[in-house]
Amino acid sequence: MNVTSNTKDYIVIKALEDGVQVIGLTRGTDTRFHHAEKLDKGEIMVAQFTEHTSAVKIRGKAVIQSSHGEIRNDEL
Ligand code: TRP
Repeated sequence: MNVTSNTKDYIVIKALEDGVQVIGLTRGTDTRFHHAEKLDKGEIMVAQFTEHTSAVKIRGKAVIQSSHGEIRNDEL
């Protein structure tokens, strides 16, 4: 499937505490932050990887669901 398609898989991020940050990193040779979304406890963000976003960094306690499964970053 075309990696830049807007109809591809979503990831779901559910915040387990206030102030969880979902940070989008740019696609291409220059990898930098382009967006930081703050989620409070219980808030959910549904996001895709797009032509602008190649990676997502998640800071704080959250549950992340994707086609790869579910991961929680509430402990080290
Ligand atoms: N404008 C961004 C884009 O189209 C919006 C976005 C999509 C985004 N997925 C994201 C922002 C993941 C942060 C994290 O790429």
